[in-house]
Amino acid sequence: MTSGVVIRPFEGTEAEYEAIAAVERAAQPDFEADAVSCRYQDATSDPKYLRQRFVAEEGGRLVATGLCCEPTWAWEPGKYFIHFNADPRRADASTAEMLFRHVMKFLADRRPRLVTIYARADAETKLRILAGAGFREVTRFPVSQLDLARFDPSAHEPLLDELTASGIRLRSFSELEPEDDRCRHKLHELHWRITRELPLPERPTRPTFAEFSRAELDHPGFLPGSWIIATAGERFVGTAHLAATQGSREKLTTGLTGVLPSYRRRGIARALKARSLGFAKSQGTRWVVTSNREDHPMYALNLELGFESRPALLFFEKRSNGMKEDGDHDR
Ligand SMILES: CC(C)(COP(=O)(O)OP(=O)(O)OC[C@H]1O[C@@H](n2cnc3c(N)ncnc32)[C@H](O)[C@@H]1OP(=O)(O)O)[C@@H](O)C(=O)NCCC(=O)NCCS
Repeated sequence: MTSGVVIRPFEGTEAEYEAIAAVERAAQPDFEADAVSCRYQDATSDPKYLRQRFVAEEGGRLVATGLCCEPTWAWEPGKYFIHFNADPRRADASTAEMLFRHVMKFLADRRPRLVTIYARADAETKLRILAGAGFREVTRFPVSQLDLARFDPSAHEPLLDELTASGIRLRSFSELEPEDDRCRHKLHELHWRITRELPLPERPTRPTFAEFSRAELDHPGFLPGSWIIATAGERFVGTAHLAATQGSREKLTTGLTGVLPSYRRRGIARALKARSLGFAKSQGTRWVVTSNREDHPMYALNLELGFESRPALLFFEKRSNGMKEDGDHDR
């Protein structure tokens, strides 16, 4: 029944941010959006690019949320990212479908050439809606979660000692930044070098230093103690971190992990992750969640560290006729 459902643009009040975060938490456990992160992302997004949220209300209560934006992280002309979720306790399938159609209709005027979206592998209604609208599954990212109560950081100490003896130092952002005034810029550079290599379903756009800082180092979920950097002399050669993007320190999300090619297969990634997880455990965090590509060595490494599988995230796209599948695009 959708007769009493009203779809309207999001107005951005505090109460609305809390309400959309509650819908996201109910619809998409594992990666639970929080109001502070949603507000921060909206407030810091570049107004040059489209970013429009929608909400569906029923009986005065917000029951579903939608988003439509230009993906500045993987930008192409005519490409849009959409998102929609309905609270499974309060909205039925027809409300979710109504919101999806509203977002697609809003986009139609812009003549999109490519539309992308994620869905959880167990989100039956959403998968049915996407299949019906002609979206095609492109990639599958298994999600996994670690219970830190079962993680023993001391098991990794011999590896950390070996690395130190071989000239590789592991320090947190909190420790390094006061000693190295180029710390933020070096991290930006390293982050991009690693991002370029990621097995992503879409070609990433290089963020400026200001964009990188906004997305990572100035983000309210930034945890400088969890951000571990491997150095060889003054050179930054590896990075791993966690972020508090889910509203509490009880559960953290894994950020990018990477090591420069000439330093690989020496255990640096394993050591970086172990240090970062050890920090989280020492701060009282219970859960850490992550997603990787199925066939990627990082997924195997996470399972070895004790992560356990959760429903995967599926990445979908829909291309309009005539759109080229590839190419570099500067914003
Ligand atoms: C994935 C990556 C971080 C691994 O870094 P690394 O320091 O070489 O990893 P480690 O030496 O700690 O390897 C730990 C284990 O992971 C597995 N592994 C790592 N790289 C692997 C590879 N290329 N092929 C197969 N297994 C691999 C192995 O089991 C390895 O243990 P082993 O060397 O004892 O066999 C690095 O290759 C990288 O930066 N890649 C590009 C960025 C990326 O894909 N990041 C992950 C997504 S967030």
